[in-house]
Amino acid sequence: MSGNIIIKNASQLVTCSGFKAKQGKEMSDLHIIDDGAVVIKEGIVKAVGKTEDVLNGFDDADLNIAEFDIIDAAGKSVLPGFVDSHTHFVFSGYRADEFSWRLRGDSYMEIMKRGGGILNTVKATRAAKKEELIETGIKRLDSMVSFGVTTVEGKSGYGLDHSTEIKQLEVMEELNRDHPVDIVGTFLGAHAVPEDYKGREDAFIDYLISTVMPEIADRNLAQFCDIFCEKNVFSVEQSRRLLLKAKENGLKIKIHADEIVQLGGAELAAEIGAVSADHLLQASDKGIIDMAEAGVVATLLPGTAFCLKEPYARGRYMIDKNCAVALATDLNPGSCFTESIPLIFALATLYMNISIEEAITALTINGAAALDMADTTGSLDVGKIGDVIILEYPSYKFIPYHIGVSTVVKVIKKGKLIFDREN
Ligand code: NIG
Ligand code: FE
Repeated sequence: MSGNIIIKNASQLVTCSGFKAKQGKEMSDLHIIDDGAVVIKEGIVKAVGKTEDVLNGFDDADLNIAEFDIIDAAGKSVLPGFVDSHTHFVFSGYRADEFSWRLRGDSYMEIMKRGGGILNTVKATRAAKKEELIETGIKRLDSMVSFGVTTVEGKSGYGLDHSTEIKQLEVMEELNRDHPVDIVGTFLGAHAVPEDYKGREDAFIDYLISTVMPEIADRNLAQFCDIFCEKNVFSVEQSRRLLLKAKENGLKIKIHADEIVQLGGAELAAEIGAVSADHLLQASDKGIIDMAEAGVVATLLPGTAFCLKEPYARGRYMIDKNCAVALATDLNPGSCFTESIPLIFALATLYMNISIEEAITALTINGAAALDMADTTGSLDVGKIGDVIILEYPSYKFIPYHIGVSTVVKVIKKGKLIFDREN
């Protein structure tokens, strides 16, 4: 197929229109067009509006209707593809035992201190062949697509050494080339302290800065640099040092911030101009205001709080304080092994007091903003990448209402149908 497609007669065309992060109250406005249509030519959105107007417009524009595939979305709702802006989807090995230990009462950090947790996955990922990581990566991406995800961020961080960090990022580069989903790579070498650097965290940061980061930046293997800024992992000072170096190397910044202990990660994100700060379960009032003022996207991962039985991040408070909030899965083999967008919608709306409209913004335009891509994706606006999902039902309100079940029946990526539950 050509990447030329017309989707017409949608009961609701939810455009999420905008070209930058939506903060606070703006998050409620979805810019809905009833009986809407969207035209995608060569993968790019060419027209958006009422079906009648859009089809009439064909006569005036340089568009020949015969060159387009046509989908009739009568009785259905149409949205931009979801952006999952925080995942760790490239890894080897599983940690089902740890899940059962947590059910018994062990905490995530206790398991990590015993050498389980992230280091467990590091062992398996170091040993894994690239082909295996690609094969499992494809399966996970295919599953994400079935939930309506068209853009994914993926982190390294299961290598903690030069060759494996590079291997993970090369896998994502290859998947980005060969799989329809767009993948944004993040260098998370500072995800945990490897065994041989225990007690020498500063030396490990030096190693990452001098040995791993330059090659990643030179080869453009990642767009972002991230760090697990947490008590007993990396301090605020170590995080500042690594991330400022990353910035010098042309990488943009993300931070795993204030997840388990209130350390000041949100404040640091605002101070150093991070694009996003993620998790934020324990973010302080000041950190939240700092993020709103600095325009840092607050990326919330309710699946992780749910799985770790931790209190949810204060999403309602953050939106009320004018933050731009994004939602993501955090798909990883430890704290949250899910690619389920319906689960994230359920938790955000039922337990974080985020409205359905805000949650949709958080998974579309604000997810794109968390990847610094709001100018090219995350909404149905003319000129943007033609990533569209079609839902089984006439209203977006069915997304959390049909609880825990995906309502996505078709996924269109760059104007091409890549998932179809109806055929
Ligand atoms: O985002 N918090 C640190 N990193 C991941 C968990 C990774 C793992 O447990 O493998 C997270 O929750
Ligand atoms: Fe994470």
